[in-house]
Amino acid sequence: MTTEEPLLEVRGLTVGFPTVDGLVKAANTVDLEIRPGETLALLGETGSGKTVLGMAILRLLQPNTRIEGEILYRGRNLLSLSEGEMQKIRGREIAVVLQNTGTSLNPVLRVGDQIAEAVTLHRGLRGGDAEAAAVTLLDRVRIFDPARMAREYPHRFSGGMRERALIALALACEPSFLIADEPTRGLDAVTKREILDLFSEINPGRSVLFITHDIEAAATLAVRVAVMYAGEIVEIGPVDAVLSSPVHPYTRGLLASLPERGMRPIPGSSPSLITLPPGCRFSPRCTRAVGRCKKEHPELVEVGPDHDARCMYYD
Ligand SMILES: Nc1ncnc2c1ncn2[C@@H]1O[C@H](COP(=O)(O)OP(=O)(O)O)[C@@H](O)[C@H]1O
Ligand code: SF4
Ligand SMILES: [Mg+2]
Repeated sequence: MTTEEPLLEVRGLTVGFPTVDGLVKAANTVDLEIRPGETLALLGETGSGKTVLGMAILRLLQPNTRIEGEILYRGRNLLSLSEGEMQKIRGREIAVVLQNTGTSLNPVLRVGDQIAEAVTLHRGLRGGDAEAAAVTLLDRVRIFDPARMAREYPHRFSGGMRERALIALALACEPSFLIADEPTRGLDAVTKREILDLFSEINPGRSVLFITHDIEAAATLAVRVAVMYAGEIVEIGPVDAVLSSPVHPYTRGLLASLPERGMRPIPGSSPSLITLPPGCRFSPRCTRAVGRCKKEHPELVEVGPDHDARCMYYD
């Protein structure tokens, strides 16, 4: 274990969305810390709660969401800050890069102006100074001919260039902590590689929560990996330990489903987050399940150095 104070500490975070069908339990008692300067990858299938966790940290979930627990950033609980205080933290301290959906940049504003606006908001630079800072940022994310491209509208940017522009936007205020939510989703293999390279280049010393369902991306960038299943962290530890010697049957299943490891998909599907199975949430799909697994809910237990898993097999 490291003795360094974490930059961000999530404690017992539970998130529920009230819906007409019942409460969607999207996150259950999530405990997680992000250490200074580390990239932590958050892995898991679609619907496992990765985005919800990222948005909860930024306090961007809809107002009627039920949230319990604590999110400590530099020791302050973000969940008890006023919206005004939170606005000062968003962007300036904690920034987000979203998956390039084509809608994340404003289509009617020039890319350089959008970045300049963020620079003005967070760094107080105005006019020509903010514009020059925007061009520098576009250069930093390896946009060719940045001064010219700053004057273009988003539709003139390819998918990979838009992702770079979004990264430039997030870097506009030099945040200490970056949340990147599936930044490589939908990109072709070459562009994905370039964006991953860019991430390792731009983030020395910065803490990053890298949300992805892409194991290869996690292996490339992360120091530690947390695996989510049905709203819970089921395994967390150093990237080598988790990806080379996974302990939790779900993590093992995820890895076995990779093309280079035999492409054997995990049978069945994730449970409904409204009516969760009793006991271990993975038990309906787990080939190692025993009677206890269907009755008792497993806790995260230590399975190796700095490595925990939520499986009673290892109690
Ligand atoms: N506003 C919402 N209302 C109801 N359910 C939601 C809402 N937002 C997310 N969810 C549900 O929470 C679960 C986790 O979603 P999400 O965090 O987006 O998953 P991931 O990012 O891992 O794909 C999903 O089942 C999703 O349908
Ligand atoms: S607790 Fe039981 S059902 Fe759950 S992952 Fe472990 S062995 Fe499988
Ligand atoms: Mg998501």
